[in-house]
Parts: sequence; C-alpha cells; structure tokens
Amino acid sequence: MVEAGTDENAGDGQPPRRTAERLLGTVGSERRTAGSAESVAANSAWWDADADDYHVEHGEFLGVSDFVWCPEALREEDARLLGDVTGRDVLEVGCGSAPCARWLTARGARVTALDLSAGMLRYAAAANEATGIDVPLVRANAERLPFATETFDIACSAFGAVPFVADLPGTFREVARVLRPGGSWVFAVTHPIRWIFPDDPGPDGLRVTGSYFDRTPYVEVDADGNATYVEHHRTLGDFVRALSGAGLAIADIVEPEWPDWLTEEWGQWSPLRGALFPGTAIFVTRRTA
Ligand SMILES: C[S@@+](CC[C@H](N)C(=O)[O-])C[C@H]1O[C@@H](n2cnc3c(N)ncnc32)[C@H](O)[C@@H]1O
Repeated sequence: MVEAGTDENAGDGQPPRRTAERLLGTVGSERRTAGSAESVAANSAWWDADADDYHVEHGEFLGVSDFVWCPEALREEDARLLGDVTGRDVLEVGCGSAPCARWLTARGARVTALDLSAGMLRYAAAANEATGIDVPLVRANAERLPFATETFDIACSAFGAVPFVADLPGTFREVARVLRPGGSWVFAVTHPIRWIFPDDPGPDGLRVTGSYFDRTPYVEVDADGNATYVEHHRTLGDFVRALSGAGLAIADIVEPEWPDWLTEEWGQWSPLRGALFPGTAIFVTRRTA
C-alpha cells in the first residue's frame, strides 16, 4: 500500500516527492531483478524513512486498536477470517504500528507482532504505550522468522512483508514452520491483476500498460542505481504454487468489493477502480500437516 508523494517544498515544478524519496535520494524507478539482501536493505530503509508520512496519511484509517484488512476497509470484526482468536497464539507479519495485533490482543489472543522496520516499530511501541495494550514487538525479516517450530496457531498479515520479500516460497515455508499443524495463515496483498495497470487512482489507472506475466520487480533507485524501494509481483498461480509447496492449503481467496459508503482513496485504490476490478486479495490458508 504505497503511493507517490507528499513533499510540499519541492518548489521546482516537479510533482511533489515523498519524504522517504528525498531522504533516500530516489531519482526514479526501473524494472529489474532484486534479490533478498537488496530487497531487505532497501525496504528496511524505505519503511524507516516513510513511517512518519505513512501514519500522517493512513493513521486515522488504520486506528490504534482495529483490524482493517485493506483499503476497501474490510474489518476482521465483520469478516472473521481468523476465526475465534481467544486464547490463540498469533503472529502478525509486517505489523507496521501493529493496530491489528492490539485488536487481536484485546479479543483474548496472545499476539507477537513482527516487522522489518525500526521506524514502523517505533510507532507500534508508542501506540502500545498510549493504549496500554502491550503487544510484544520483534524486529526481523519475514524470510527468517526468529521463532521455534510450531509456536503459533494463527499467522496473519495486512499488506505486511509479502509484497516485499524476494523469496516468496521460502517465506511461506517459514510461516508454515512456525505454525502448529492445522494453524491458519491469512494474508492480504495487492490483487495480482493490479500489476497490469499504472499506479493511478484516476482514469489513467484503467488502461492496461503492462503484462500480468512479467514478474520483474518494481525497483526505485538512487543516483548510483542502488535500490531504495522494491516491490515483487506474483501471479495468482505463483501464490498457489508457493503456498502448496509450503504445505498450506487454500480455503478461500477473498476479493473485497469497494463499499458504496467509502470515498477515501488510498494511493492507487479508489472508488473508480474499485467498482470495476479487485484491488486486494486475501488468502485464507491452513497448514495441512
Ligand atoms: C504497507 S505496510 C503494512 C503495515 C500494516 N500491516 C498496516 O496495515 O499498516 C508494510 C509493512 O511491511 C513491513 N515489511 C516490509 N518488508 C518486510 C520483511 N521482509 N519482513 C517483515 N516486514 C516487512 C514494512 O516495514 C511495513 O511496516
């Protein structure tokens, strides 16, 4: 859930830039390969640098103890994709400021919230203190989860980590490893169909400009060509293969529809596009053995 620019002081006739782009010296974007080490380094620095802007823009929408799955504002309170969480050990992967983890804790779950970015976890720690809901926070890469095998009953993620990891099969194997047999892994990502359109909430975002089958990552770069942000694309089939390869069976793929009452855009997510095609896919899966 990333979108372009908020630097009001650009003053050079160019479109405004996000603070993160300014801090990291981003000069443009390319489509090229990016491995795990490069993706982790770039995205860790990006989310550190973007944490303030992200929470100014989306903090109210996300809340401090609320579980919103996606820009279509589907709430766990209504969707119940995780089932009864009371007394369950839950891992949130890519938690950001961890509003979902606090919501789950308030409903009786024992939650651990993990994120790559110290900047995002600072917001999580501040919100823990403000709410008095003290969720344990762990800084780690989702590709290497620092937990013992079969520690959790449920793992969940609302746009955290999955779009940013280079090794999707390895990440799913890690999640499956830390889940107990029969445990659930439920995660929301940008719907794969969105890859064929430009990241534009308006009419220009309705034109097909890319191939669905092109998995080449989207990479923002600085003047030396170093990655400052990396996002990886997978087709629906790629997700299915990575999940089944990790021993995770798909129970559902939820494609939330844009609700009539919602007028708030989130980057490329808008009522215009939401009325025509899905923006989010939520995979509901279970460890089979
Ligand atoms: C779009 S934010 C979503 C955060 C939160 N779930 C929300 O809805 O606001 C993506 C989060 O994924 C985290 N992230 C990116 N790559 C990661 C990785 N490899 N391992 C763990 N977290 C990662 C980022 O630091 C960021 O906090």
